[in-house]
Amino acid sequence: MNIQLLISDGRHMSYAPAICVLIEESAKLRGTGIARREVSYIEQKIKTSHAVIALHENTLVGFCYLETWSHGKYVANSGLIVHPDFRKMGLARRIKEKAFDLARDQYPDAKVFGITTSPAVMKINSELGYRPVSFAELTPDKAFWQGCQSCPNFDILQRNQQRLCLCTGMLAPSKKEEFSKKKNKQNEQTK
Ligand SMILES: CC(C)(COP(=O)(O)OP(=O)(O)OC[C@H]1O[C@@H](n2cnc3c(N)ncnc32)[C@H](O)[C@@H]1OP(=O)(O)O)[C@@H](O)C(=O)NCCC(=O)NCCS
Repeated sequence: MNIQLLISDGRHMSYAPAICVLIEESAKLRGTGIARREVSYIEQKIKTSHAVIALHENTLVGFCYLETWSHGKYVANSGLIVHPDFRKMGLARRIKEKAFDLARDQYPDAKVFGITTSPAVMKINSELGYRPVSFAELTPDKAFWQGCQSCPNFDILQRNQQRLCLCTGMLAPSKKEEFSKKKNKQNEQTK
C-alpha cells in the first residue's frame, strides 16, 4: 500500500479538521487517552512543520505532532493517531520514528517524552530508546499537565497530586545526550 509520510507544511492545513475528528472519535471509543485538540492548534503545528502526516491517495490516514515544554528542555510527540482502516500494518511505528527524528533534529538539547496507555505506543517507544519513568522525571510544566484536563481520567491524576495516573510516562535522552554517551563509550573502548 502506497502511504506517503511527510513532515507537514502550509500545504497540509486543510487536513486539520479531519485530524481533530479522528483524534476525538478514537478517544471517545477508548474512553481514555488523547486530550481534545482545537483545529487552530493543529493548524499551527502543521504550518510550522511540527507534525508528521501520513496520506494515502491524498486522504489522511495518520498523524503525530511535536510540542515543547519547560522552555525547550523537553519535547513530546503527541496526538499519535492512525485511521482505524490502516491499523496493525506498522504505520504508527513509521510515523513515530519520523516524529522522533524530527523532534531530535529540531530540538537536539531536549529530552523526548510521552505519556500513554497504549501497549502499541509503549512497544514502539521502547524500540526507539525510551524507558518508563515516574511522572517526576517528566516536564514539570503546568501547561503540559493542564492538557490532561479533557481526559476522562483527569480526576485520578489530580487525586494523586500529579505523581501518577493510568498513563505510563516514557523518556528518551536528547540527541546531544545520546551523542556524548556514544562518544564516551568510544573513548573508553580506545583507552
Ligand atoms: C495506537 C495506534 C496509534 C497504533 O497504530 P498501528 O498503526 O496499528 O500500530 P503499528 O501497526 O505500527 O503497531 C506497532 C506495534 O504495536 C503492536 N500493536 C498495535 N496495536 C496494538 C494493540 N491494540 N495492542 C497491543 N499491541 C498493539 C503491533 O503488533 C506492533 O508490534 P509488532 O510489530 O511487534 O507486531 C492506533 O491503534 C491508534 O490510532 N489508536 C487510537 C489512538 C491512540 O491510542 N493513540 C496513542 C495515544 S498515546
